[in-house]
Amino acid sequence: ARITLRQLLDHAAEHDYGVPAFNINNMEQALAIMAAASELDAPVIIQASRGARQYANDVMLKHMMDACAEIYPQIPICVHQDHGNGPATCFTAMQAGFTSVMMDGSLKEDGKTPADWSYNVNITKYVTDMAHLGGISVEGEFGVLGSLETGEGEKEDGHGFEGKLSHDQLVTNPDEAIKFVKATGVDALAIAMGTSHGAYKFTRKPDGAILAMHVIEEIHQKMPGLHMVMHGSSSVPQDLQDIINAYGGKMPQTWGVPVEEIQRGIKHGVRKINIDTDNRMAITGAIRKVLTENPAEFDPRKYLKPASDAMQKICKQRMQEFNTAGQASKI
Ligand code: G3H
Ligand code: 13P
Ligand code: ZN
Repeated sequence: ARITLRQLLDHAAEHDYGVPAFNINNMEQALAIMAAASELDAPVIIQASRGARQYANDVMLKHMMDACAEIYPQIPICVHQDHGNGPATCFTAMQAGFTSVMMDGSLKEDGKTPADWSYNVNITKYVTDMAHLGGISVEGEFGVLGSLETGEGEKEDGHGFEGKLSHDQLVTNPDEAIKFVKATGVDALAIAMGTSHGAYKFTRKPDGAILAMHVIEEIHQKMPGLHMVMHGSSSVPQDLQDIINAYGGKMPQTWGVPVEEIQRGIKHGVRKINIDTDNRMAITGAIRKVLTENPAEFDPRKYLKPASDAMQKICKQRMQEFNTAGQASKI
């Protein structure tokens, strides 16, 4: 059945667990998430970026989500717009059956210019007021995602700021974040503390200097009821880097967010954990392996099934690590 983000995260807060929010673009990814959820009795957040909606078509996504609910009626499914950049994106997502939207007003609509306080508050409050009329949840963002190693916004994926940002912009200020939540009425808040999207987050295993987990603890202490969202939370596992590179890939060595840091976040109010890159890597590694070992193969099912299986394995791992497993039947 469908569930809103608010309903799901309220339950997660009450029972001290986190929910991975996995991005999808296609059927194989949707089926991988649902199979993992069904095996482990976990509720799911399935999210689509603007790029995903363009890639797959809203009608296709809508019917795919209906199909997931029909195939797995016992699994609560939250369908979420990832990084909505304005009211139009959010409202069309609602029309397409999403039960939750992210209004990301940390950057202007171009996705490049850091927004000021009043831009972010006004646009987020507007979307939240409208969404709540229809019983849809809203995630806001306060602070700009980017690297504390270089001071740069995101380079690689197109929705980041280009150039240098100040430490204050890259690390969410707890008091202002709480003011922001009260001013906008959002159901959940994405915060910035040194993570970024994509595989190239850190040049070494992160410590407190480049991953500011203390921000989460401070916000949680000041506003215990707030549901926080960690973006850029792929762990970029070494074994997935190795598989890709063993079968013809050329990914430079890199580090992601250690799972134990996310688990620490979950103890302090993190309820939604955004993961896309790990699944992309699992899929790519599996496809490279099949095609390298069987160069004569040309039936897409022969590599898409192992790809989907590899993604399912990552999804299951995260559902176990975040204690999402076993919760679906309790909602
Ligand atoms: O926000 C980042 C997610 O990984 C989605 O990426 O915009 O390439 O679909 P995308
Ligand atoms: P990753 O690139 O770390 O998987 O982050 C995904 C994300 O934050 C989507 O909003
Ligand atoms: Zn994100």
